[in-house]
Order: sequence, then structure tokens, then C-alpha cells
Amino acid sequence: MPIGRPERQGDQGSRPMGDDHMFGRRKEWGGTSPAHVIEAELRSSKRWELTDEGKEIVEKGSHEARVFDAIPPNGITQSDLMKFPCGKVGFNKAMSSKWIRIDKNAEGGPRIFKATDCIEDAVKNKLLLVQQGKDSKLDDKEKNELKKRKLLSEVTVKTYWITKGNSFSTTVVKQDTELTPEMIANGSWKEKKFKPYNFDAMGIVPECGHLHPLMKVRTQFRQIFLEMGFTEMPTNNFIESSFWNFDSLFQPQQHPARDQHDTFFLSDPASATKFPMDYLERVKKVHSEGGYGSLGYKYDWKIEEAQKNLLRTHTTAVSARMLYKLAQKEAFTPVKYFSIDRVFRNETLDATHLAEFHQIEGVVADYDLTLGDLMGVLQQFFSKLGITKLRYKPAFNPYTEPSMEIFSYHEGLKKWVEVGNSGVFRPEMLLPMGLPENVTVIAWGLSLERPTMIKYGINNIRELVGHKVNLQMVYDSPVCRLDP
Ligand code: PHE
Repeated sequence: MPIGRPERQGDQGSRPMGDDHMFGRRKEWGGTSPAHVIEAELRSSKRWELTDEGKEIVEKGSHEARVFDAIPPNGITQSDLMKFPCGKVGFNKAMSSKWIRIDKNAEGGPRIFKATDCIEDAVKNKLLLVQQGKDSKLDDKEKNELKKRKLLSEVTVKTYWITKGNSFSTTVVKQDTELTPEMIANGSWKEKKFKPYNFDAMGIVPECGHLHPLMKVRTQFRQIFLEMGFTEMPTNNFIESSFWNFDSLFQPQQHPARDQHDTFFLSDPASATKFPMDYLERVKKVHSEGGYGSLGYKYDWKIEEAQKNLLRTHTTAVSARMLYKLAQKEAFTPVKYFSIDRVFRNETLDATHLAEFHQIEGVVADYDLTLGDLMGVLQQFFSKLGITKLRYKPAFNPYTEPSMEIFSYHEGLKKWVEVGNSGVFRPEMLLPMGLPENVTVIAWGLSLERPTMIKYGINNIRELVGHKVNLQMVYDSPVCRLDP
């Protein structure tokens, strides 16, 4: 069992400032008195000292005495007397001591005469006593008066009385940090000095993984979906066939998104082979000939094109698989699904685009849903993110009709910004799957990166994802709270 917290090398460096042992507040193990090498007792005393002016008076006499001495037997005009150094102070003091007198009507202006033959320079004498260390002969009133005249000052002298402390030593003893079975067995523990526990020390940050900000924001979005009663779809396949990624979604085979420039195709294995063939036939038919009230695209649909493997370009491929699966059930039951996972697009990379990102997708399948239901569920979803002002703009997706881009009012930027895409899945997509005719499926999607960058104040996506990511950013990022 370890006694005292083992101190690892370099340990102190990672602790915040203010660790107590530097200030002697550390307690001895098992005891209550602090371990001190020396004891220092503060002993302060007060002493009176002469100021420079006070010293001058001891040497030359007080101003009033000097004024008195300077007056000749036939007197001196007041104006001449004032020219003396400290003439004014000396005059006033000598007047109040009645050492001198003034004749205001004298010829040539007011004249000053001595009023007594001899004087006793009490101020000088008192200061002299202080200088000789005999200030105890003066009372407090006298000393304070001299202090007021700035002739004396009181100084506090701080001294420390040093004695050996309870842990006094001239050698540094390395304290043991661990009590070993051997120490107990051979009794050496009795002589050992153990390092005291430092209960104020910060613990070592346990080594553990850190969630990337994207994963923290994903947790919050997942929470919102779960609160709304949605179930998570299995998105654990980055590789998808063109069939599920495009064809099942009524995306024609000539669609520009199916080009090498927009989609990453796989070279090995280049094509998928397993498909539900009857469903595939219905998809082929709706593309090439139409059906279910639709004219279709009127082109020669090729299975080779549908077989091409790719890195999924959207998680709607997963939604298609899930809706097909749902349609295979004996009886239809309404569902609410969501997914948050990675998708890949052959994009030109810039500060806000990478060739891979995360999509958040919500899907609701129920009888007779309307566009109003879609707008209602979007309102509920975005209000949980703190976004309340929504606007919709007609858009186009091959698999939804109508389609709407979702905009929200950004209070900081003072403008409407796009926050997602949505729509009502087309009958050409749902009916070949086998879903009942009166079942409508509404859906929407948005990226995970955009809200994450906004939330964590990251302007360049390369600082969030990829080889330029600073791991410290990952360690230091706080948990995500999407405040409504
Ligand atoms: N799949 C669309 C995209 O990649 C998002 C979307 C999902 C649109 C569901 C409508 C319905 O942008």
C-alpha cells in the first residue's frame, strides 16, 4: 500500500500554481504540526529618529533660536528678518514664546527687538535627547509635536528571531513515498521518513481518449432525435452500390452527380452483385418506362451502371435501404428514423469543403403526411437547436417533390443562411419499394460540420478534420451544449 502520493518525475510541472508545500502549510503525516526546518519569529520594534531638519536643529539651534540670536540690540526691520533662512517660521515661534517683540510704528517700517536677555532652546534640547537615545525622557505629547513639525519620525524595525524548527537538519533526507512489504517484514519502516500525503495536490489527469468536437456535436444531435422519438439507422457502410445511392432514389443514370467528378467510384471491387431482383426490376421499369402515374425518364436503364460501387455520397442511401426493408414487412407501421454519419464527395477542397463530411438525416414515414407536417417537424427539430426563425426556398432533388432548402435567420450575421435541405419522397421512389400508396415519407438533411464549426469558432474546416488538426484542440474542446 503506498504511503504518501508517489511523486512522478516532472509531475509538478503539470500542476497549477499554488501548490501548498511551498508555503509550509503541508501537514506532517499523522501529526498536526507543520514540518519546519527553522522557526522565524517576527519581532518588530518602534524607534524615534531625527529627520534631516531635526539633525540640522541639533547642530545649529531651532529656527526661533536662530532668529533670536540674529537680532542686534537696536533691532532689525521685519522685512530684513524675513530674508533669513526659515525667518518666517522662526519669527512666528519666537513671537509666540514671547522672546521677541514688534514695534509696528518704528521709522522705516515694523521693527523687531529682543524681548528677553536669554532663552532656553527647548526644541533643540529635546531633539538632542532623542539623538542621544534618551527619548524616554520625553512624553508622547512632546514627541508627537516634534513629529508634526517634521523634526522627528517614528520608524518600525522588523527583525526575525530565528531558531531551529522541529524538523531542523543540515542534510536533506529523501523521504520515502512507498511502504513496501520488505519494509514491513524487516521492520525498517520504523526508521523511515515517509513523505506526507498532500491532499491539496491536484490529481494526475487520467489518461483517456478525447472525443473530437464533431463527435460531441453528434451526441447532441442524437439526443435531440431521441427526444423526438426517432430511431437510429445503421450507417456502418461507407461503400454503397450506385443502385442504393442513386437508382433506388429515382436519380437517373445520366445525372451529373453520378459522374467521376462528383462521386468516388471503387476500382476493387468495382461492382456489387447482390440486389433484391424483383425490386431492381421495378426500379428499372420506373426509370425507363414510368409507372405509378409517372412517365419515368424514358431511357435505357442499365444494371451495369447500378452495380458500380462507390463511397456513398449521402446517407439518403441508408434511408432508401431502411424504407425498402420497412416496405417488406407484412403490415406497415409508421416510423421515425435518423442517422448521423460520414459521406464522400469528389469536391474541390477549400476552407469550408472537404471530400468527406458528416450528414445528419431525419426521415418520417406515416399515412398521409403533408408538407405542413414536414415544416412542423423541422420547426420542432431546429427549435431544439435554438433556431426558431425558419424560411423555405423551393429546390430540386431527384428523389423529393416538393423539395425545400431550409434557411434560418442568423442573428450575428443579420442574414438568412442555409441550414439544410428537405422534401417529400417521390412516389417513383416509394411505390416500387412496396410501401402503401397512402404512405408519405418526409425527410431532411444537414451537415454536422457546419454547426460544429459555428459552435467551436473554427473558420477553416482543415483545422477541424484532417492531418492539420491540432490534437490539443481536440483535448481542450469543451463538451457541446446546444442551448435552445
Ligand atoms: N440527401 C440530401 C443531400 O445530400 C439531403 C436530403 C435528405 C434532402 C432527405 C431531402 C431529403 O443534400
